[in-house]
Amino acid sequence: MTIIRRMTKEDVHSVMEVEAASFPVPWSSDTFAKEMQDNPHAYYYVVEKEDKIIGYCGLWLIIDEAHITNIAIHPDYRGLKYGERLFRHTCKKAIENGAIKLSLEVRVSNTAAQHMYRKFGMVPGGIRKRYYSDNGEDALVMWVGLK
Ligand SMILES: CC(C)(COP(=O)(O)OP(=O)(O)OC[C@H]1O[C@@H](n2cnc3c(N)ncnc32)[C@H](O)[C@@H]1OP(=O)(O)O)[C@@H](O)C(=O)NCCC(=O)NCCS
Repeated sequence: MTIIRRMTKEDVHSVMEVEAASFPVPWSSDTFAKEMQDNPHAYYYVVEKEDKIIGYCGLWLIIDEAHITNIAIHPDYRGLKYGERLFRHTCKKAIENGAIKLSLEVRVSNTAAQHMYRKFGMVPGGIRKRYYSDNGEDALVMWVGLK
């Protein structure tokens, strides 16, 4: 069985496995722990399949503006629509909590993620030059109105 639920600090260790397998500069477990404990604007969700965390998505919600901080599915489970389900769930929660606009940054080379975001009506809003410190890659800002 697969469920999507709110992430807790007890999940940080498992989420770190997804994180480390997904990004060239992974977030630290401290960063996730702080998001869980100290950030009242943070909403994080995990996909759990047979009691194993296979993906996560994070959101910051400030008044009515939502910003996706990150989304990742473990490489062993990609291409099976878990990312789409998780993203849909996260958007739904943003709307339920008052968001009217959603934005995010994505590497210009990350066409897989961009395709997924476009399926949710997200469109390019601009470029942040040399946003990613590991290789100096630009970020594409994408956004969508939620009402
Ligand atoms: C982006 C990511 C979360 C997508 O999750 P996923 O579970 O593999 O994606 P899904 O199976 O739900 O696919 C949803 C849509 O994404 C797009 N997509 C997914 N993989 C793709 C690929 N390899 N090439 C092109 N488009 C792709 C497609 O539009 C797809 O819909 P479709 O099958 O109807 O065409 C996943 O690839 C991932 O974890 N990537 C590494 C981390 C990352 O880059 N995160 C984004 C940071 S901004």
